[in-house]
Amino acid sequence: MPDTPALTPLWPADAAGLDRAVAVLRSGGTLAFATETVYGLGADARDAAAVAAIFEAKARPGFNPLIVHVADALAAQDLVHWSPQAEALAQAFWPGPLTMVLPLRADAGIARRVTAGLDTLAVRVPAHPVAQALLRAFGGPVAAPSANRSGQISPTRSAHVLAGLTGRIGAVLEGGACAVGLESTILAPGSPARLLRPGTITAAQIEPITGLLAGARSGVITAPGQLASHYAPRAAIRLNATEWQTNEARLGFGPVPCDLNLSAAGDLAQAAANLFDHLHRLDATGAQVIAVTPVPDSGEGVAINDRLRRAAAPRES
Ligand code: TXA
Ligand code: MG
Repeated sequence: MPDTPALTPLWPADAAGLDRAVAVLRSGGTLAFATETVYGLGADARDAAAVAAIFEAKARPGFNPLIVHVADALAAQDLVHWSPQAEALAQAFWPGPLTMVLPLRADAGIARRVTAGLDTLAVRVPAHPVAQALLRAFGGPVAAPSANRSGQISPTRSAHVLAGLTGRIGAVLEGGACAVGLESTILAPGSPARLLRPGTITAAQIEPITGLLAGARSGVITAPGQLASHYAPRAAIRLNATEWQTNEARLGFGPVPCDLNLSAAGDLAQAAANLFDHLHRLDATGAQVIAVTPVPDSGEGVAINDRLRRAAAPRES
């Protein structure tokens, strides 16, 4: 396994930076890169030692499987058993913030730790131009969880990645602020198709293709990594705040007085893009409590409220 530098370098996503990033992946190292959702911590999904280094850097429990990123749907079909429904979903949403959990092909060549021993694989084709350029130049499957320490807030800027993981990973490839800002929607195609993690691609957008989704309204989310406590900042989180205590940092939505506003205009897509960055910023003020204005539970608000509930959940010590 290659050495990780004491201070992790940040490379621009120009031709030279991409070359170096590909070299890191080829040599079995770990590389953080931007996707349109959040930054991922990538490694060659076929290389067991490289995949182990992801779990090590994040202190991620081994039972929590990783998403594999590929450049296009054809590359995904080398890894998983495809279906007409998967094809229709790929046509509608790839490249983009949808992950599909499908039966793993016996000849996929994916390291066993990626799937945590499951017989399914989560695959995704990201839309971010830097992720696309990287995947095309590398030419193989890249396992990449979000580039944060396990249980902490997902990174939507390179500075968030470095704050959490510097010295623990090979390099970061700069890709600016992530436009979507919440992790991908995770879906297991089938009849019924099951929603495993809500995201900005909503059940209402998916159901015309799949029929009624299981899990979309029950709140029972079955992706193995969906622990109750997740996305936890250092500060405690108080939800549905309609009045403020003096010691609290105030995270608003809509036209309310606050320290930072997810979207003063009440735009849910904008709120999704701002959520993790604003949590990072309010946490950095040293506030003991972050109080959050109610966010409507519709559209992208379902995924925002899912992340907020996990951020507020009682933490394992
Ligand atoms: O937007 C995203 O999905 C980002 C970017 C980097 O692509 N990635 C991401 O990865 O959010 P991570 O590891 O933070 O979350 C992946 C989730 C976990 O909850 C994991 O349990 C679930 O996907 N997952 C992975 N493989 C699975 C499988 N075979 N079956 C069910 N759930 C799976
Ligand atoms: Mg994550």
